[in-house]
Amino acid sequence: MRVINIGLLGFGTVGAGVAKLLFSNKEIISKRLGAELNLKSISDPDLTRDRGIIIPDGILTNDSLGVVADPDIDIIVELIGGVGIAKELVLKAIEAGKHIVTANKALIAMYGDVLRGKITEAKIDFAYEASVGGCMPVIKALRESLAANRINEITGILNGTCNYILSMITNEGLSFDMALRQAQDAGFAEADPSFDIEGKDTAHKLAILAGIAYGTGIDLADIHVEGITSITPMDIELAREMGYRIKLLAITKNHGDSVELRVHPTMIPKDNILSNVEGSLNAVSIDGDAVGNMLLYGHGAGMMPTASAILSDVIDVARNILSNSIGRIPTFAFQSDSMKKIQVLPMGEIKTCYYVRFAALDKPGVLSRISGALGDFGISIDWVHQRGRHHTESVPIVMLTHVAKEADFQKALAVISAMPEICQPPLLVRVEDDELL
Ligand code: HSE
Repeated sequence: MRVINIGLLGFGTVGAGVAKLLFSNKEIISKRLGAELNLKSISDPDLTRDRGIIIPDGILTNDSLGVVADPDIDIIVELIGGVGIAKELVLKAIEAGKHIVTANKALIAMYGDVLRGKITEAKIDFAYEASVGGCMPVIKALRESLAANRINEITGILNGTCNYILSMITNEGLSFDMALRQAQDAGFAEADPSFDIEGKDTAHKLAILAGIAYGTGIDLADIHVEGITSITPMDIELAREMGYRIKLLAITKNHGDSVELRVHPTMIPKDNILSNVEGSLNAVSIDGDAVGNMLLYGHGAGMMPTASAILSDVIDVARNILSNSIGRIPTFAFQSDSMKKIQVLPMGEIKTCYYVRFAALDKPGVLSRISGALGDFGISIDWVHQRGRHHTESVPIVMLTHVAKEADFQKALAVISAMPEICQPPLLVRVEDDELL
C-alpha cells in the first residue's frame, strides 16, 4: 500500500488531536483512502510536555525547518497559527513543493493574495477547512457542494468564545469576565482573547468565506468590525423581553454590484435557528440561488472536531496525489484568472433596523426630543421603553426602529448625543428582523 508522509508543525491541542485521530482511526482512513497516512515528523519547541498520547521514537523534533525541507514529506500540516513563524514556514514549504493543510485563519485572511500566487506557481494543493467553523465543512460547501450557485448571503456564528460568553450571560446570568475565563479554561479562546471579543477572529473567518463565495480577495480593512465588549446584561435582558437574542454575527450580502461585509452584535428573533445555537457551538447559514437557505452547525473549535477537519483535508490532498489531480479544485474556489475585485458597500449605505439605548436625564420633553431627532432623519420607531428611575442620575431610554440607512441613523445619533440631557454615548445593536422591515 502506498504511504503518504505527513509533517506536522505545532504540537499544541489541535496538533495532539491530529496525531491521536491518525493513530486511532488509521485503519478506517486507509480503507477509505487506499493508502497509508504516515505521521513522519512533528515539530514543536516543547518536546517534553505530556500530550496524553504515545508518540513513537524519532518523530518529535524541534527542527521545524528540517521538517519543511524533508524530501520524503508530502503534506505539511501547519498548526502553529498566526502570521509570524507560521507564515515563514508555510511559504518555505510551498517553495519546497509540499502540499499544505492549515487551520491558520489569520494567515489566509491577511495574506491570501500572496499565497495564491505562490500556490499557483508551485502547483500544490493548499487546504484550510479548519480555519473557519472547526469541524463544519463550510469551505467544502462553498468550494464544492455549492459550486453551481450564486451565493446571495452568508450569516454565521463563527466565534465560539463570543457565543459562549453571550449564552452564559443570557442563560446562566454569569458575568462577562467569568464567562470569558471559562472559555479560556475550556481552551477555545485565542491566546489573546481580545481577538475573540473584539470580533477580529470572526472578521478573519468572514474574509475567507466571502472571498471564496464571490471569487475575490477581501481586504480586512473593508470589513466593519464590532465586538461584544459593550453589550451589557441589561441589553441582553431587554432583547429577551422584546423576543430577541443577541449574537455576534458575521454577515455578508451580495447586491450584485457590491457586497456587504460586517461583524457586529446583532439582535435576531428568538425563533431564528441561529438564536438557538448555544455555548461554544458555531453555525453558518448560506443562501444560494439554487439551494435556497442551508445551515451548517457544529463545534467550531476544540481538539478533536478541529483535528477531524484537518484530517479531512489531508485525505482530500492525499486523494489528489494518488489520482494525479493536484489543483483539481481551485484553492479559493474560483480559477485565479477569474477572480476580481468586488466593491464593498460602505457601512453608511447598509440598511437595517436598530436597537438603541440612551442614558438620559429624566426630564420632561427628553423623549420627544430624541424621537424628533430620529424623525428628522426619516427614522421610524417601532417600540420605545423608559426604565424606572432607581434614584439614579440618568435613566435608560430604549428604542427599536424600523429599517433605516446606517448613515442616517448615525447622523441622528450624533445630534442626540450632543443634547445636554444625554449622559453617555448611546449603545446601538443592529437588528436583523424581517418583521420590522
Ligand atoms: N477562538 C476561536 C473561537 C477558536 O472561539 O471560536 C476557533 O477558531
